[in-house]
Amino acid sequence: MISFMDNNNKRVLILNGPNLNLLGKREPGIYGNNSMESYFATLQERFPDVSLEYYQSNVEGELINKLHEVGFTYDGVVLNAGAYTHTSVAIHDAIKAISTPVVEVHISNVYQRETYRHTSLITGACVGVIGGFGMDSYRLAIEALLQL
Ligand code: DQA
Repeated sequence: MISFMDNNNKRVLILNGPNLNLLGKREPGIYGNNSMESYFATLQERFPDVSLEYYQSNVEGELINKLHEVGFTYDGVVLNAGAYTHTSVAIHDAIKAISTPVVEVHISNVYQRETYRHTSLITGACVGVIGGFGMDSYRLAIEALLQL
């Protein structure tokens, strides 16, 4: 049997939470020098057959609204909820409420950082979690979603 993976028309949203609009400027020793806008172009080149979208908000409710908006039609969400990872029952519940699989992503290795970053309230609602690989964590999460 010949099998192949057809990623044509797969819709994947990259959803970034608070302070991630400052990537490239924000604590570059931890998060690197790349802006999300420039890294997003790299991802689009890496996954030419995937319909990739990007949305960022600093507002918890807007992240939840976006999850509701895409969560019954898209093929996957790559979610870096930023600090809401560690605090938001509401984002956990939103991920549980939708049918689209969500992969939790972190740029940094949160387990090498402050203990308050060691707890994620959203991991249990996600299909998996990838962190600690810098911006490449997003690519790895897309690869994982495409294998599902
Ligand atoms: C982060 C880790 C979080 O603890 C932090 O609040 C962030 C970014 C990461 O990508 O490494 O904003 O999610």
